[in-house]
Amino acid sequence: MKHTDPFLLAGVIGYPIMHSRSPMMHNYWLEKNKLVGRYVPLAIQAQHLEGALRGLHPLGFSGCNVTIPHKQACIPFLDELSPSAKAMGAVSCIHVRQDGSLFGTNNDSLGFIKNLKSSNPTWRADAGPITVIGAGGGSRAVCYGLIQEGAKEIRLLNRSLEKAQALASSLGPQIKPLPWSQLNESLNGVKTLVNTTSLGMVGQAALEIDLSDLAKDALVTDIIYIPLETDLLKLAKARGNPITNGLGMLLHQGPPAWKIWFGIEPEVTEELRTLLEKSIPAQ
Ligand code: ATR
Repeated sequence: MKHTDPFLLAGVIGYPIMHSRSPMMHNYWLEKNKLVGRYVPLAIQAQHLEGALRGLHPLGFSGCNVTIPHKQACIPFLDELSPSAKAMGAVSCIHVRQDGSLFGTNNDSLGFIKNLKSSNPTWRADAGPITVIGAGGGSRAVCYGLIQEGAKEIRLLNRSLEKAQALASSLGPQIKPLPWSQLNESLNGVKTLVNTTSLGMVGQAALEIDLSDLAKDALVTDIIYIPLETDLLKLAKARGNPITNGLGMLLHQGPPAWKIWFGIEPEVTEELRTLLEKSIPAQ
């Protein structure tokens, strides 16, 4: 069945979902590209995930993004995975193909790396050890991207060590799992520090960390974008470290999704970034 209705539909599947700035970003691009359509937030609870995914084709969706808590859970309901989604064990973007089959891919690692490179043009993943905090779905994309970029040593700390060990065994020997109690000392000699946990996000507890052992030129980044500056980023900025927030990761994983859904790569403009920034409360 091929849809001939010119009204384009895409969305983001997650729960909760209303905090997401994806709809604002994608609807901006629909308007800029003079396309008739809508990108909608889809609040889908776990028990309805399969039904929601099966409904995408009959409803005429070109595809959707997938966010917390469905990035891993959606995999059994998809017909094919890209090599990157397979390697990460997580999906961030689904394409509804014309025959109704569902193709899952993951653009989070591309978005993460592009964000770091565009805000810090001299940054290199192979410049030295990297500490990554957290071992969930976000961390899988971050670690995959860092390894693709040539990272040689990723010190991975997670509250539950087993999850960090599982991530290391699926992604590669560059990842060195360490117990949570070694968080502060793991910063010794690192060139990049990444937080992928939900600690520091609006409504969540703060990440408790002592940056004394971190070199002042190490880049500190958080994949959280609400608030734009987490306590970790504030702490790093106050001692002179370069920082990058998580908004660019959201912005830069958008164009590859559009390429799959609509065959167009929209532009990440300053106007769009400012629009999103203005919509995020200061804290
Ligand atoms: P996502 O897909 O966004 O990465 P997730 O898979 O639920 O979400 O992962 C959340 C991450 O934040 C995990 O690393 C989690 O640690 P556990 O694996 O031990 O659960 C981490 N996290 C969440 N709350 C935390 C807390 N209070 N203290 C430490 N780590 C926490």
